[in-house]
Amino acid sequence: MAEPKKLFIKTYGCQMNVYDSERMAEAMGGSGYVTTDSPEDADMILLNTCHIREKAAEKVYSELGRFKGLKAEKPDLKIGVAGCVAQAEGEEIMRRQPLVDLVVGPQSYHRLPQMEAKTRAGEKALDTDFPEEDKFEKLKSRGPAAKRGPTAFLTVQEGCDKFCAFCVVPYTRGAEVSRPADRVLAEARELVSRGVREITLLGQNVNAYHGEGADGRDWGLARLIRELAEVDGLDRIRYTTSHPNDMEDDLIKAHGDCPKLMPYLHLPVQSGSDRILKRMNRSHTADSYLRLIDRIREARPDILLSGDFIVGFPEETDDDFEATLRLVEQVRYGQCYSFKYSTRPGTPAAERAQLPESVKDERLQRLQALLNQQQAEIQAEMVGREVGVLFEKKGRLPGQLVGKSDHLHAVHVIAPEALLGQIGRVRITGSASHSLAGELIAG
Ligand code: 5AD
Ligand code: SF4
Repeated sequence: MAEPKKLFIKTYGCQMNVYDSERMAEAMGGSGYVTTDSPEDADMILLNTCHIREKAAEKVYSELGRFKGLKAEKPDLKIGVAGCVAQAEGEEIMRRQPLVDLVVGPQSYHRLPQMEAKTRAGEKALDTDFPEEDKFEKLKSRGPAAKRGPTAFLTVQEGCDKFCAFCVVPYTRGAEVSRPADRVLAEARELVSRGVREITLLGQNVNAYHGEGADGRDWGLARLIRELAEVDGLDRIRYTTSHPNDMEDDLIKAHGDCPKLMPYLHLPVQSGSDRILKRMNRSHTADSYLRLIDRIREARPDILLSGDFIVGFPEETDDDFEATLRLVEQVRYGQCYSFKYSTRPGTPAAERAQLPESVKDERLQRLQALLNQQQAEIQAEMVGREVGVLFEKKGRLPGQLVGKSDHLHAVHVIAPEALLGQIGRVRITGSASHSLAGELIAG
């Protein structure tokens, strides 16, 4: 048998890219590839790129430049660029960096094996189309089903129709598309048969999910979650990322009465100033967001909230920024992501007067200080509580395992290795900067 070829994939950006990279690796398994952790060993290098912030394209070009030596040593090495920079830059990538053999946009990954074959024939391969087909169906693994860790991502929805004024996603990932529910359910069952106990449903706007249901009708995310909850052996369900305007009543209700749906919600608001929210084209206000949070907490009082914030958006004044701090104080987030506004060419906000970097830096520091303080307080409140922990891997200390609590906190526990992949009952005993410590009550 021929020696398998080796594929090195470097993944940037969001969880959706992590999922896509896994699927691409599985699809390339059908072309005789196994994955490797070192680019030096690889027959093919694939950069799965992100375009959401900063000079992402420039970073990709400098990373590509580093492969020059490898390619000179190994002329058969194929180099590909996937992901949102591939979608945004297209052919330009090959023009600027001739060592690139292949450029593939996020909607064309199922065509990767044919594209690789084309590069083996000495040609360049480019595909940044938005085809109609369900790429994930076509990306199904053809190799033997490998055992997996206890947690997995599952993409159910892609793309975004919201057009926030700062964001490239609607351009790079295209319009909202939901996968039919039967395909999602079949993939979930398959994951469970491979050892998965927790699934995080992914989508750029996952709560806008409206897929074709098993009964031919349109199913929203709540219905999909309820059907997934019926899958034996699947113990935990999460979803990310959501838009406040798509938090429908039945989804809020599911947080209250679906025990497998974990008490954690990532619900970005971006700013606490109505003037800025309007300029961001967010189509909600700070107050409507706060009322929404109240309703979610009524349904599930112990839910841990997470969010995204942008500081230094064009025209943001000190008062606007103060409004963001006030909103954070009212919500009390368990954890958050916060970013300096980064100008993205082609988006409406890129045309507006930009704020100085020093103002953005100062605001980010103040916001992060408040968010860190909230995170520490909420972690400290967990001490003494009993939680479920899904053990994922061994910890750094002997006899220690690490897993995630229902609220997605990382928890370190002295526990027998046989509990890996299982959910244990744990009492939280301490809180460190980004994790908790606990003791096992029962396995
Ligand atoms: N600048 C800074 N942050 C951004 N995000 C999206 N676009 C930009 C941008 N141009 C952030 C938003 C979004 C998260 C995924 O990334 O907060 O929710
Ligand atoms: Fe981007 Fe999210 Fe806004 Fe869509 S809803 S445009 S993905 S920030």
